[in-house]
Amino acid sequence: MEINVTVNGTVYQREVEPRLLLVHFLRDELRLTGTHWGCDTSNCGTCVVWLDEVPVKSCTVLAVMADGHRVRTVEGLADGAGLDPVQEGFRQCHGLQCGFCTPGMMMTARWLLDNNPDPSEEDIREAVSGQLCRCTGYENIVRSVRWAAEHEAAQEEVQA
Ligand code: FES
Ligand code: FES
Repeated sequence: MEINVTVNGTVYQREVEPRLLLVHFLRDELRLTGTHWGCDTSNCGTCVVWLDEVPVKSCTVLAVMADGHRVRTVEGLADGAGLDPVQEGFRQCHGLQCGFCTPGMMMTARWLLDNNPDPSEEDIREAVSGQLCRCTGYENIVRSVRWAAEHEAAQEEVQA
């Protein structure tokens, strides 16, 4: 089937098998390997990307379901002028160790902050509750997202 998908602002037209998963379309067809592939069974959450404005596990979505839609991956997080505050937060607060869960965690964190700019620890833990991290114990992930929230709030104050 032919699909047209806008990924990180670029339109891609491709012929794909109907059974192809979005995670494999991104990684194998578009070579956007920042989206990781872990379990294929909707358990780990390392494959999270945005479909339109909503985080989804891209191993649960067929590539053909993204036809005519927008996808945002971790490669589309930074705007070119610098890291997204979420990325900077993970860097500053050691929010990653092996990094396998990190792209998915950051995509969920960005969505959370867009929808709740001042999330509590509980809000953050709930937002990433469908995603597994085998390394950090989540503590530094929570700190990283709080760092991003606080720095975005401070930036907005400066700009106001
Ligand atoms: S690869 Fe998608 S949830 Fe694990
Ligand atoms: S940093 Fe290793 S799985 Fe999260």
